[in-house]
Amino acid sequence: MAERTDQPLVLGFETSCDETGIGLVRGHTLLSDALATSMAEHERFGGVVPEIASRAHLEAMVPTVHRALADAGVALPDVDAVAVTSGPGLTGALLVGVAAAKAYALALGVPLYGVNHLAAHVAVDELEHGRLAEPSIAMLVSGGHSSILLVPDLSQDVVELGRTVDDAAGEAFDKVARVLDLPFPGGPPIDRAAQEGTASIAFPRGLTGPRDPAYDFSFSGLKTAVARWVEAQQRDGVHVSVPDVAASFQEAVVDVLTAKAVRACRDHGVDHLVIGGGVAANSRLRAVAQERCDAAGIVLRVPSRRLCTDNGAMVAALGSRLVMAGVAPSEPDLGADSSLPIDVVSR
Ligand code: KG4
Ligand code: ZN
Repeated sequence: MAERTDQPLVLGFETSCDETGIGLVRGHTLLSDALATSMAEHERFGGVVPEIASRAHLEAMVPTVHRALADAGVALPDVDAVAVTSGPGLTGALLVGVAAAKAYALALGVPLYGVNHLAAHVAVDELEHGRLAEPSIAMLVSGGHSSILLVPDLSQDVVELGRTVDDAAGEAFDKVARVLDLPFPGGPPIDRAAQEGTASIAFPRGLTGPRDPAYDFSFSGLKTAVARWVEAQQRDGVHVSVPDVAASFQEAVVDVLTAKAVRACRDHGVDHLVIGGGVAANSRLRAVAQERCDAAGIVLRVPSRRLCTDNGAMVAALGSRLVMAGVAPSEPDLGADSSLPIDVVSR
């Protein structure tokens, strides 16, 4: 593969869940990041409804592309390559993005890169902090996934060291928010509520025993423990302090995530950690990760909050990385793969 030294202009499409994200990136420079979301339409269902998300992507697609181009001050003929999330995610939602990206790539006569949503959550950090150290350990914590990765080279080589055996970290935030009557998605309101409370309740830390797998996570027992604790208090007529429960739950998640990520760095002799995905927006996770990395002599990189949750710039960022590394583009029959494995960076 021949490395490129010029800076390609890449148009990125993200439609794996409820956000229609269109981003423009030149090299490692973020030019624009336009977002439309159907979140409000899902709120009353307490989770994303795939059919509603797909239809909303269709309606938002062209206007959002136009907004991204206008914000970046570029025109379609300037685009050198198109990148699109081809998985993992909701099949119908992914298909809207893949079809749109193919149409733009074909019409413009530029290469198309189908990329992995999870690797894109890591790649986005390069827009703010420059090229990732090689190797890095990456912890990916989103609504659908929680994994610890060894990343020798983000353009082609990602090794999963561990993952959640049940709920994803973000899913646990969303489910606990429901128990506490907080809105969906649950991460932001729990983060806010926790700032008013104290982590005084000792909730369990899953898979942290001496014989447990070092880099796997389990959050389903924690979620159940929180629900049981709240029920018991209510049964006894005791007032439940939402801020204290939120802070205690959040502390349990953050403690486990950061301990395992630091351990992965130490065990593999890697001194750079990058955290990506929606849960990386969590203020307590960012603070504790910084403390523990400082103590362990690890350089921590976390994208700014806005770039942690789903967006189009992350897809363009990974696409740009692939173009510059000389990776072959996708075939024209690129499809959507709802369960694309984490180690397939592009296809
Ligand atoms: O990466 P993302 O936007 O979508 C997926 O790929 O899943 O992540 C969404 C998840 C949701 O579960 C949401 O509750 C969580 O990220 N999240 C947070 C915060 N902001 C978003 N979790 C904890 N604290 C936050 N501040
Ligand atoms: Zn995501």
